[in-house]
Amino acid sequence: MTITALIVAAGSGSRMGGDTPKQFRPIGGTALLARAVDAMTSHPAIDAVHVVVGPDQRALAEAALAGRDVGSIVTGGATRADSVRAGLAAIGEDGIVLVHDAARPFCPPAVIDRLIAALKDADGAVPVLAVADTLATGRGKLDAMVARDGLLRVQTPQAFHVEDLRYALGQSGKASATDESSVMVAAGLKVATVEGDAMLEKITTADDFARAEALAAGRLVVRTGMGFDVHAFEGDGPIMMGGIEIAHERGLAGHSDADVVLHAITDALLGAAGEGDIGQHFPPSDPQWKGASSDRFLAHAAALVRGRGGLIDHVDCTVICEAPKVGPHREAMRARVAEILVIPLPAVSIKATTTERLGFTGRGEGIAAQAIATVRLPG
Ligand code: CTP
Ligand code: MG
Repeated sequence: MTITALIVAAGSGSRMGGDTPKQFRPIGGTALLARAVDAMTSHPAIDAVHVVVGPDQRALAEAALAGRDVGSIVTGGATRADSVRAGLAAIGEDGIVLVHDAARPFCPPAVIDRLIAALKDADGAVPVLAVADTLATGRGKLDAMVARDGLLRVQTPQAFHVEDLRYALGQSGKASATDESSVMVAAGLKVATVEGDAMLEKITTADDFARAEALAAGRLVVRTGMGFDVHAFEGDGPIMMGGIEIAHERGLAGHSDADVVLHAITDALLGAAGEGDIGQHFPPSDPQWKGASSDRFLAHAAALVRGRGGLIDHVDCTVICEAPKVGPHREAMRARVAEILVIPLPAVSIKATTTERLGFTGRGEGIAAQAIATVRLPG
């Protein structure tokens, strides 16, 4: 049976405010919509994900979802039910559909498992949480207390057999439905409840958004990457090393400026981010990188990490050569690397060693450098 996720993201986010609707705003570098999509595509039971956005939101959605495997981006309607109807038109006649709010960026996979299991003997299934606070009516002063016994908070994703949801939406004339389970219940269909999750809290206000940002920052995981680079001596100096010019009788051969330190650190950052290597990003065959200043490569790797909501904690590099002497230039190299990466000086380490005259560096044929980078990225 095909299981499709439908992410509704056609709202205007009026309660949250701001220029860009909340679903397209990033937390920890990733838009709410993209996080909602990722939670669905990463679940093994889900076959396809479709997204519903407003008529003037297509460009925002495409930017937020760049590089992601989305079945289609459908134009939604003025009400949520209209948006879901439009989304259903893009998916098959039968199977299971999980309707999910883009405004709920953290969906634990276990909730999806529970919903799918519950559909075995129900027309629909929703995650619910009990109400913990005392409930009342009133405005400015309390009018009456409301018994909270038996009251449930209904979250998304909500799972339905596609035909049942189509039928229920066809029956419903109510434009004000805030979710699909209410439409299903109004149509007399059976909607089971499963345990919801505090992580599924919907982002409605600016305060909710700030809390979600803090949550995303706390979920960063530490990753390390290593880099290694070699350039052969050729012609006359000076050479570039660690982003600074160093006087030396020999020059270094290379397509770019042959800065082994910046290249090794760039590769270490790309490695930590799982983003391939420097040759993929800046192919030596591409004439535009001929003689290029390597600080551009390093800045690009840093931007990649930050663009994914990551933080660069530390880089450490060992230069391997007999000459030139690195010691006198170490602090200037550290300062330049820290400047390019926009991280504090203590977060950069530059070391050097000889190889006791052994091997190609020992024979003075070239310079090698190895580096390790520690970053934190969204898990
Ligand atoms: N939604 C939708 N189509 C609509 C209205 C809402 O697809 N016509 C989506 C929203 O994008 C959101 C989800 O339904 O992902 C839950 O709605 P809500 O939190 O109310 O979001 P908004 O309607 O955007 O916010 P607000 O009500 O504050 O304007
Ligand atoms: Mg709304």
